[in-house]
Amino acid sequence: GTVVLAYSGGLDTSCILVWLKEQGYDVIAYLANIGQDEDFEAARKKAESLGAKKVFIEDLCKEFVEEFIWPSVQANAIYENRYLLGTSIARPCIARGQVEIAKREGAQYVSHGATGKGNDQIRFELTCYALYPEVKIIAPWRMPEFYTRFQGRNDLMEYAQKHGIPVPVTPKSPWSMDANLMHISYESGILENPKTHAPPGIFQMSKDPEVSPDTPDVLEIEFSKGVPVKVINVKEGKSVDSPLEMFQYLNTIGGSHGVGRIDIVENRFIGMKSRGIYETPGGTILYHAHMDIETFTMDREVRKIKQGLSVQFSEQLYNGFWYSPECEFVRCCIATSQESVEGKVQLSVFKGQVYILGRESPKSLYNEELVSMNVQGDYDPCDASGFIKINSLRLKEYHRLQSKAGKP
Ligand code: ARG
Ligand code: SIN
Repeated sequence: GTVVLAYSGGLDTSCILVWLKEQGYDVIAYLANIGQDEDFEAARKKAESLGAKKVFIEDLCKEFVEEFIWPSVQANAIYENRYLLGTSIARPCIARGQVEIAKREGAQYVSHGATGKGNDQIRFELTCYALYPEVKIIAPWRMPEFYTRFQGRNDLMEYAQKHGIPVPVTPKSPWSMDANLMHISYESGILENPKTHAPPGIFQMSKDPEVSPDTPDVLEIEFSKGVPVKVINVKEGKSVDSPLEMFQYLNTIGGSHGVGRIDIVENRFIGMKSRGIYETPGGTILYHAHMDIETFTMDREVRKIKQGLSVQFSEQLYNGFWYSPECEFVRCCIATSQESVEGKVQLSVFKGQVYILGRESPKSLYNEELVSMNVQGDYDPCDASGFIKINSLRLKEYHRLQSKAGKP
């Protein structure tokens, strides 16, 4: 049979490629460009030299931003209040590309190098099953014949040497990384001890706020239907308006000021806690800017419902259910909620922080006259007395009972 392998160019998936061949499969290597820093042509040559029947390298950056990052911005997606889901969002995008190739090439199998303990295996495989129901999945890290043979990096290195797989010359960093346009994540290895601090120099997208510029950058981000449509650097006069360029520009500016670094312990879907370090510069700026323009333009009660949907969406995304009926439904509701989320937010980025400076919108629900201390507006202050009294009914009753029971 033919198998399409999600290939990264690294040691693990190179060994998997050769191992699959050894098991008698024809191997097609699939490498998605979602903005990671990678020599794609070198990876192509490597896969070919290892005996891949075909190699597909696809640039998915644009669809990654427009179809995956933008809905997450609209949702204010965040997992366990802190993680902006950079890896989670990328998985359905990559797996979708991979099964498209598998179908087109008539391959019955897909394979990946995710471990048997993580979230990625779930995200990857749920997407494959959803979009290619007949597919058969080969997950070597869950197959005893694979993982008993490759018990550590030394086994992989030895296998590589024996099979003409180029062995990495630079020593591997003592943690694992996952990089794309949205973020870089760092976990495992020396980071497994949750007490160990991230070593200096670990971050690749962002500068340490201790050495970042002493003057802020001021940005104006314009939103339409809850997604950015223009980013202006106010001092420099630079302006960008294509989705991919905007996102990259926000990464550059946010990164230069050390925005979007977090160190957390999170709950994996599979049922264990894991420690992760993330840098999400552009995503963090957009999170704050979108939250601001949304609160400015969205009805209070709609917003409460939407907040609940956001928690659900984030969990669906984290757990790998992008292509589920519930996630489609929630995405649809969230998109509807964004109809009037438009306007401009001015903010500054400085020393790891995003400071909102001001906002304006033709769809604003903010009534300056109504809220002003100096203007009467369409509001009778006397009405507030009755409003407060009626709201106090419950409280009076509750505390009357409390004191009867002898509580203060
Ligand atoms: N813990 C994060 C998540 O589940 C990041 C996973 C990183 N994946 C990786 N293959 N290094 O989304
Ligand atoms: C892995 O286990 O392959 C990476 C971490 C994760 O998927 O959660």
